[in-house]
Amino acid sequence: MKYPPVKLNTKGFNKYQRGELWFTTEDLEMVEKLRESLREGDLVSIYSKDGHFLGQGYINLSAYYALKVLTTEATPINEVFFQRAFDRALNFRRKIYPHEKTFRLIFAEGDFLPGLIVDIFERVAVIQIHTRGMENLRELIIRALLKTYPLESLIFKNDFDKRKEENLPMYVEFHLKDPGELIQVTLDEIKFLVPLKKGQKTGLFLDQRENWRYVSKITSDLTVVDAFSYLGSFSHYSLKGGAKRSFLMERSAYAIDLALEIAKLNGWDDKVIPVEGDVLKLLKSPPVDGDLLVIDPPAFIKSRRDIEKGIRRYRELFYYAISFFRNKRGYLSLFSCSHFLSLADMKNLIIEILKKEKISSRLFHTFCQAPDHPINPSVKETEYLKGLAVEINSLRDFC
Ligand SMILES: C[S@@+](CC[C@H](N)C(=O)[O-])C[C@H]1O[C@@H](n2cnc3c(N)ncnc32)[C@H](O)[C@@H]1O
Repeated sequence: MKYPPVKLNTKGFNKYQRGELWFTTEDLEMVEKLRESLREGDLVSIYSKDGHFLGQGYINLSAYYALKVLTTEATPINEVFFQRAFDRALNFRRKIYPHEKTFRLIFAEGDFLPGLIVDIFERVAVIQIHTRGMENLRELIIRALLKTYPLESLIFKNDFDKRKEENLPMYVEFHLKDPGELIQVTLDEIKFLVPLKKGQKTGLFLDQRENWRYVSKITSDLTVVDAFSYLGSFSHYSLKGGAKRSFLMERSAYAIDLALEIAKLNGWDDKVIPVEGDVLKLLKSPPVDGDLLVIDPPAFIKSRRDIEKGIRRYRELFYYAISFFRNKRGYLSLFSCSHFLSLADMKNLIIEILKKEKISSRLFHTFCQAPDHPINPSVKETEYLKGLAVEINSLRDFC
């Protein structure tokens, strides 16, 4: 199948040979000509300067990454293309999560589909599209998804800021049956209510699933402080693991209300206590005490230009999180979902604070994103969630 041709220049071709799948206008030949002939999101066939076929993808010359590769084969980008990709993704999930009914089916480049996210919540698929190229293929996506998985509803939750970078409209829209605002799903025997339309991201942070599980293993008899709690997943898993109680620190009243409803559904509402507010302000003078503090902030570094400012924010937050254990023992689970802060950088930041404050501690676990968010080595941005579990022995002790 041939689409309008786009040629990579020498710089672009070198990147292609290194396995990269995203290209800027600086990697393309005759950009001005392409601007005249192509519309945002058009499918294109990709060639080297001397005319060798390299693959197919979509183009948006007004986005920072103007060209993204969908395949290195000359196959048509049609319903069958998507069905094959969805089948391959589903087979992989069936291996890693054979019994799960709630999981991420498509993680963009992690599943070789740039710009597309699909989370399955039992019979409902929540879809997010990040690029004009993928938006243009929406109808194919719907048809292929319905052939791949038994669904009652599909929701396009396309109301996030990143879409503005590709001149995409904001909307939330369902197909087939209206699933309503909330869907009840069960994860590890814990009942959850997932907000399908008003929730953050796709409704639930499934990338944290294995980390919720890990934390639940160490919470027996502990009091937990779940900072940046959203729906309180760390709290619910902790309570299932035998925690005494959990405090939710969160600024969204909507998320707190839902977390309390979830607690009620599971019969532990008397053990979940909301502390609404800004986590950083609260940690400067903590109104509650606990043995395990979970810190799971939103991404402080969204692009390269935020790196310095973002690192300062992480340093301050981690400092106050560590200071929470002033003169007492306890556990910390610290997370970052910023791709631009690597695990090594995060670890150094934390060790630097521990040493400066002369705190005796042990690092005993590293966290990462769940395996249904697979990392594509050719697109380093697909690796983003990391965390560290720290045992604090006591402040100003011997290091
Ligand atoms: C990454 S999500 C947390 C996900 C959650 N821990 C989980 O496992 O599902 C970040 C949460 O922090 C909240 N948030 C962001 N900034 C905040 C702040 N300064 N103070 C309190 N909550 C904040 C957001 O409303 C959001 O619910």
